[in-house]
Amino acid sequence: MIKYLGSKRTLVGVLGAIAQAAEANTAVDLFTGTTRVAQEFKRQGLEVIASDAATYSDVLAKCYIETDADKIDRNELQEKIDYLNSLSGLKGYVTENFCINARFFQPKNGERIDAIREELAKSFTKDEHYNILLTSLMLAADRVDSTTGQHMAYLKSWSHRSKHDLVLQIPELISGTGKSVLGLAEEVVEELPSVDLFYMDPPYNQHRYFTNYHIWETLVRWDKPEVYGVSNRRIDSRDLENHSVFNKRKLMPNAFKDVIMKAKCETLVVSYNNESWVEPHDIAQACLDSGHASVALFEFDYKRYIGSQIGIYNKAGDLVGSKGKRENKELIFVAGDFERVERIESVVAGRGIEPRT
Ligand SMILES: C[S@@+](CC[C@H](N)C(=O)[O-])C[C@H]1O[C@@H](n2cnc3c(N)ncnc32)[C@H](O)[C@@H]1O
Repeated sequence: MIKYLGSKRTLVGVLGAIAQAAEANTAVDLFTGTTRVAQEFKRQGLEVIASDAATYSDVLAKCYIETDADKIDRNELQEKIDYLNSLSGLKGYVTENFCINARFFQPKNGERIDAIREELAKSFTKDEHYNILLTSLMLAADRVDSTTGQHMAYLKSWSHRSKHDLVLQIPELISGTGKSVLGLAEEVVEELPSVDLFYMDPPYNQHRYFTNYHIWETLVRWDKPEVYGVSNRRIDSRDLENHSVFNKRKLMPNAFKDVIMKAKCETLVVSYNNESWVEPHDIAQACLDSGHASVALFEFDYKRYIGSQIGIYNKAGDLVGSKGKRENKELIFVAGDFERVERIESVVAGRGIEPRT
């Protein structure tokens, strides 16, 4: 899975256990990002809707959530992957903007990304495996990047992994059915059906995903935009339509509460973190105001995101981001009727994780 700010990598086990304890058959994962949580729900046998505003996230969701692994001809898919892996490098948009004018990938890999992406655009857009192949390219590029996991900066010296050759592989597909919905959470939430379990994991602060992951956005759209700044981000990063209300301190609290109020479900699960703009008490209150009888709050120690541990360097190799604190806390709110919330509490406690009341 791609490296991703705010990814729930360490919490998927707990979230899967919560879905089981909630006895859910259907779920929504709003702000799905990498789709990691939606994948876990799908693995547990739930029918899942994954939604996010990012185009790359929609491609990931079409690959992992919409695709039923049991209906895929793996030999045919492997042939396509082998063919793409056999293409010779081609100096193009990625090489110029992300390998020469900025150093996110070594040129040998940038040229391969260019060649494969051009071939996908030329011969595969109507192919049934298109989103799987595009996901495979994203994952392969992520494995050989030279960043701390974001696209706002790259490392001063090439990372060790960037020296490896880019290799496409079949992503780990999951059996079952699901759906991807691309769009703004504040709009999408109105149209989503009522589900057993509704999970949401909004951004926590001013850091924008559109700019933090601009290379994935461009690789997926393949619109080759004009770029600016040290990290060669997309020129349309400046457009208001690409600014999320969830990254604005003044607007975020109400937008967040509004989404909570509109989520139609039996069990509501909300991820948050202790360095964000809304007080835990206000989130718990919003859960109750939305009609749930009971809400429990679980708190987890969490190793802080690596980019803030080692600092961030700009084009000139200067440290531009400071070394941050090492610890933050992940919060999970679970709301529903008394009995269900109690059952979930005992399951989480049984995993050795103590709930805060
Ligand atoms: C904390 S991350 C989610 C991480 C995800 N749970 C995971 O484990 O990968 C927040 C996500 O919110 C998305 N996002 C930001 N503003 C949004 C909006 N207004 N509507 C929908 N998604 C938005 C970002 O693209 C990002 O993927």
